[in-house]
Amino acid sequence: MSVRRTRVVLAVGAVAVAAAAIAVAFTGTASAASTLGASAAEHGRYFGTAIAAGRLSNSQYSTIAGREFNMITPENEMKWDTTEPSQNNFQYGNAEQIVSFASSRGIRVRGHALAWHAQQPGWTNGMSGSTLRNAMLNHVTQVATHFRGRIYSWDVVNEAFADDGRGSRRDSNLQRTGNDWIEAAFRAARSADPNAKLCYNDYNTDNWNDAKTQAVYNMVRDFKSRGVPIDCVGLQSHFTGGSSYPSNYRTTLSSFAALGVDVQITELDITNANATAYANTVRDCYAVARCNGITVWGVRDSDSWRSNESPLLFDGNGNKKSAYNSVLSALNEGTPTDPSSPPPSSASPSSSGPGNGGSCTATVVPGQVWGDRYNTTVNVTGTNNWIVTVTLTSPQRVSTTWSGSFSWDSTGFVMTARPNGSGNSFGFTTMMNGNSGARPAVSCRTA
Ligand code: G3I
Repeated sequence: MSVRRTRVVLAVGAVAVAAAAIAVAFTGTASAASTLGASAAEHGRYFGTAIAAGRLSNSQYSTIAGREFNMITPENEMKWDTTEPSQNNFQYGNAEQIVSFASSRGIRVRGHALAWHAQQPGWTNGMSGSTLRNAMLNHVTQVATHFRGRIYSWDVVNEAFADDGRGSRRDSNLQRTGNDWIEAAFRAARSADPNAKLCYNDYNTDNWNDAKTQAVYNMVRDFKSRGVPIDCVGLQSHFTGGSSYPSNYRTTLSSFAALGVDVQITELDITNANATAYANTVRDCYAVARCNGITVWGVRDSDSWRSNESPLLFDGNGNKKSAYNSVLSALNEGTPTDPSSPPPSSASPSSSGPGNGGSCTATVVPGQVWGDRYNTTVNVTGTNNWIVTVTLTSPQRVSTTWSGSFSWDSTGFVMTARPNGSGNSFGFTTMMNGNSGARPAVSCRTA
């Protein structure tokens, strides 16, 4: 056995021992995770926050964000006005800053928002008809392609329904391009980023009795019946005095889920951070198997878009509020899902193969393991011009990738990685989706 292979086997063994120790500790104690993300992960969910790139240099902000949350939504940095300030000139710097903050910590990213009537760049003013429709579809395609493989779920279309009590579509320049603009955006997003979940996202869709909720429900049901590619519904859940936490919220979540889509609580904030409403929101999500997780719309009250209502879980000095404790204890209720198992001993740590320009070896280095996902690094030797095939076991899925260029086959379970100029090592996060034992197989060939 070579020295390198011995190291790999030792590393795999060390991870196995560590994971076994976690499993023992886990089954031997009632779980009481001490951060929001860790607790949610133990229950197969995420707990996220919106992040502003401009605040990441504030160490109090970034420390809380990195410690507490396991999902991040860029608050403004992926919107149309920021990512395409002039037509076909795409700017991703601020968004990349957030994505890199997240991926370097194993935190996943929700993409927000590809098509929306608000925060459009000035150059869309005066555009209409097929010119505007094509500009919107090009925007969806370009942005989703740029971030392909790095986004857990996209808010493909945001806030397309009106608040008129009749469930009408919102009048907007996009709506005036034709009623099918929403499904067209979803189809473009699916082609561009086939592995991401595609969500419709809106506010005031929390009360099951509201006309707006029913209108979104009917649209999703129609999309599912006609094969329009939609995977999830985002409920923003900005609970204010006028739109407070509704007692039938769980019915809303479960009714959407019954259509065959996931539900995600995407922008939660509650006037004066009512601790009971926060805890009820968590319990309602846990009660619905297809509720993937909860995102709060900011870290500290001072970061909130409505900071005068102090609606978040940390005060302006970064202290945990009573709503934080209430959320954490609600997240810790119930029986945790199975923790991760160690990689099976049959996992192949490396594989090599020939190609047109010689041979190469891909070595798997198991990385950090969480309750719902694990990281993997692959080191390639023998050539700078490699193609590595990574084959997952269903229903596991890659949620995040880094330091390579990636594409998937039509099943979504076979990923092809190529160099992107950053060296001969790449990495990815795999969601276990209920299968905690399997680990990917890798093989290498030269281009
Ligand atoms: O960055 C500029 C700054 O340079 C300038 O000096 C200042 C002057 O107004 O504006 C700053 O940009 C502001 C930006 O937030 C960053 O703070 C914009 O004016 C302001 O409009 C923008 O507000 C955002 C709002 O969406 C815009 O619609 C909020 O941060 C953001 O939290 C909010 O998020 C939305 C979701 O995307 C969709 N659902 C509702 C939610 C709350 O409105």
